[in-house]
Amino acid sequence: MRLVLLGAPGSGKGTQAAKLKEHLQVPHISTGELLRAEVAAGSPLGRQAKEVMDRGELVSDQILLAMLEERFSRDDTRQGFILDGYPRNIAQANALDALLQRLGQPVDLAIQLDVDPELLIQRLAGRAQAEGRSDDSPDAVRNRLRVYNEATAPVVDYYRGQHKLACVFGVGSVDEVFARILAAVEEHIE
Ligand code: AP5
Repeated sequence: MRLVLLGAPGSGKGTQAAKLKEHLQVPHISTGELLRAEVAAGSPLGRQAKEVMDRGELVSDQILLAMLEERFSRDDTRQGFILDGYPRNIAQANALDALLQRLGQPVDLAIQLDVDPELLIQRLAGRAQAEGRSDDSPDAVRNRLRVYNEATAPVVDYYRGQHKLACVFGVGSVDEVFARILAAVEEHIE
């Protein structure tokens, strides 16, 4: 199973991807997590990315594609994957299609988690208090939502155009949302 999770910051992509990983037994590839690992390691890439991430902007397409190519070169992706946080603009969607076509592993389904903007802000404010993620400050959240609306929202239509899109209501308990995702996967794929 090769899934892409789409949705605004705070929509629950990471939360649901962790559950899907257990359920489907395929790796969860989060570009945000890959970047945060670089930042934590203090690598040159991490130092370059940190400032951009803290502002809530997108790290360069070139860096992301190199990172993704490296991740897909590992054997564990052969049986499928859950991709979370990529693609984030149309150029990345095209690059992903080209990469996966080369690997003979096209995306099966993109799942869009739909959550009201006010609730997104509440969730991220809650996480800012609980975890202190450096891009959960009010300014960075505002910018992340703006970037999502301008650059990432068109990616939803990209997958709709390929008849590979499922929209899932992302409000409710984590288990309720997960059950909706599984139902959508069954409906579209099995
Ligand atoms: P990334 O890490 O991908 O962040 P994001 O998309 O902003 O997503 P979040 O992690 O904030 O939210 P989520 O949808 O995963 O929700 P979560 O499950 O965590 O990217 C960070 C940055 O890296 C980007 O801004 C950019 O700079 C850079 N980057 C990454 N990918 C890139 C790319 N492809 N190109 C360029 N730059 C890139 O949940 C959020 C909160 O809500 C949690 O506290 C959770 O517990 C809670 N929650 C989840 N589900 C529920 C529920 N059902 N009910 C109540 N609370 C819930």
